[in-house]
Amino acid sequence: MADLMEDPIAGGAAAAQQAAGKKTHPKKVRVVPESLRKYREIQAAAEAGGPPEKIAAQKAKGKLTARERIAYLVDEGSFQEIGLLMESRCTDFGIKDKHIKGDGVITGFGKVNGRLAAIFSEDFTQLGGSLGRTHADKITRLMDMAADARIPVIGILDSGGARIQEGVDSLDGYGEIFYRNTKYSGIVPQISIIVGPCAGGAVYSPALTDFVFMVKGLSNMFVTGPEVVKAATGEEVDFETLGGSMTHASKSGVCHFVANSEPDCYRQVKELMSFLPQNRFEAAPALDTKDSEDRKIPLMEKLCEVDPRKPYRVNHIIWWLSDDHKFLEVHHDYAKNIVVGFIRLGGQVVGVIANNPAHMAGALDINASDKAARFIRFVNNFNIPILTLVDVPGYWPGVAQEHGGIIRHGAKLLYAYAEASVPKITLVLRKAYGGAYIAMSSKLMGGDINFSLPSAEIAVMGPRGAIEILYSRQIKEAKEEDREALRVKLAKEYSDKFASPYQTASMGSIDEVIEPARARARLIAAFRVLAGKRRPGAHERTGNIPL
Ligand code: HXC
Repeated sequence: MADLMEDPIAGGAAAAQQAAGKKTHPKKVRVVPESLRKYREIQAAAEAGGPPEKIAAQKAKGKLTARERIAYLVDEGSFQEIGLLMESRCTDFGIKDKHIKGDGVITGFGKVNGRLAAIFSEDFTQLGGSLGRTHADKITRLMDMAADARIPVIGILDSGGARIQEGVDSLDGYGEIFYRNTKYSGIVPQISIIVGPCAGGAVYSPALTDFVFMVKGLSNMFVTGPEVVKAATGEEVDFETLGGSMTHASKSGVCHFVANSEPDCYRQVKELMSFLPQNRFEAAPALDTKDSEDRKIPLMEKLCEVDPRKPYRVNHIIWWLSDDHKFLEVHHDYAKNIVVGFIRLGGQVVGVIANNPAHMAGALDINASDKAARFIRFVNNFNIPILTLVDVPGYWPGVAQEHGGIIRHGAKLLYAYAEASVPKITLVLRKAYGGAYIAMSSKLMGGDINFSLPSAEIAVMGPRGAIEILYSRQIKEAKEEDREALRVKLAKEYSDKFASPYQTASMGSIDEVIEPARARARLIAAFRVLAGKRRPGAHERTGNIPL
C-alpha cells in the first residue's frame, strides 16, 4: 500500500549525477503504471481505425473517417463510446489476421444540439465497414439502449454489406437490426445517413428508418449492383444513375434529404433534429420567437385575386406563414406536387402538408399520396400537430395511375389522416375538388378546425368540368360561335352557387372563412386551442411503416 502512496522517482539521470559526485536534488517524475500504459496504447490503437493506407484511400475518395463524422454531428466533447474493444470472433477465410478492435463500427452516445442521441458510424477503413456478428451486436445493443433511454438513433452507413467471411451470421445480424428498426419505429426517431456504399439487403435498415440522408457523389444504395443488373436484364447503368443520391431523392423516394457535401449533410441532420422530440412520449421542442404572431400576410390576399388556374409555389405561402420564415422541407425532390415539412407557429413545431399548384396543378397522384401519408404517420407518432394547406384540383388522371394503383396508394393518405390523433388544422387556399377535397384532411375525415380563404372553391368538381356534364345537351345544341360564351356563363353560375366556401361553411364542413392577411394569427390561435387535445387511442403506437 505504501508503494501506491509514494511518488515513484526516475532513477536514471539522478543515479548518473550521483556517480559523478554531484549533489543532486532528485526530480520527481511520475512513472505511468504498466496497466495504464497498456490501456492507453490499446485505446489509441483502437481509436485510430483501420490501417493508415486504408484511411488514406478513404480520404482520397473525398470521404471523412467514421470518427470525423461523429465529431461533425455531436456537440464538442459530448461523445461517450461503448464497445470500442469488441472484435470479431470469426476465424474463417484468413480473417483472424485482420481483426481490428471495434469491428468496423463506432457506437456510442453524444449530444446533438444539446440533446442526447445514440449514434453508430460504420468504418470503411476496417474490412470495408462490412457487417459481421460483432459489428451487428454493437449496433443492436446501442438500439436497445436508445429505446430504453428513449433517445433517437442516428446511423452513419458506409459499408460493403454483409461480411462475406462470416456467412449467415452476418445475414442474421442484419435481421436483428431490421427487427429493431421496426420494433422501435414510432417510439424513438431513427435517422440514416448514407455516406458510401449501401448494397444488397443492407439497404433495408435505412429504408425502415424515418429519414434517409444522402450526399451527392458519395452515397449509393441498391439491392443489386450494375454488374448483376447487366447480367440479369442486359441494362447498362452506372452506380450513380442506379442508386445515387438524386436517383433516390427524385425517383424512388428512398432518400428524404440530399446534401452537397458531408459537412452540409451533418448540418442538415442537426437542423432536422431541432424539430423532433426525443421520443413519442414528449412534445417537440418549442422555440421562442420574436416574429409577431399577428404578422400580416399580404400574399394571402393576392391569392384571392389570381386566376384559379394560375400555378404558384405553395412553399411561398408556407414560408410567409411560419415563424421567422423557417421551413424545413422533407422530400424536396420527390413528388413535387405535394410539399411536406416542418415549421414552427407561435414557437410550436407543426408538420405541414400542402398541395403545390406549381407541379401537376397540385393534383394528387400515387407518389404524392405515399409521400404525404408517410409524413403524416411520422408526425402523428411524435406528437407533432398537422397543418394542411389545400389547393387541389383532384386526382391525376391516366391509365398509368389507375394501373399503378392510385386507388390503393390514395387510400393510404385517407387512412393516415383519419388515423392521426394529433391536432389537425386545415386551410383551403383555393381549389378543393371532389375526392381530393375529402382526402386533404376534410372536416368529416377528422379535421379539428377547418378554415378557408374567401377565394376557395370547394366543389364536387371544377366548374368547367361540371357544366360539361350538367349542360351537355344545351352546349351541344348551341351554335358553334356561341358555345364558349355559354360555357363561361354557365361556369360562372355554377361557381357562384357551388364553387365557393360559403355553401360548405353553411353545412359546417368549413368552420370559418377567414381574413387572408390574418391567416397566421388565426392558425396560431387555433393550434393553441387544440394543444391539449387527447383522443382515446391517441397514445397507441402505430409505427412508421415505409409506405
Ligand atoms: C468482407 C469486404 C466486403 C464484404 C468490402 N470488403 N466489402 N469484406 N465482406 N461484404 C473489403 C474488401 O475486401 C477490401 O478488403 C476492403 O473491404 C475495401 O474494399 P474495396 O473493394 O477495396 O473498396 P472499393 O473499391 O471502394 O469498393 C467498395 C465496394 C466493394 C463497392 C463496396 O468492396 C464491393 O463491391 N464489396 C462487396 C459488396 C457486396 O457484394 N456485399 C455483399 C452484399 S450482400 P481489403 O482487405 O482488400 O482491404 C449483402 C446481403 C445483406 O450485403 C443481406 C441483409 C439481409
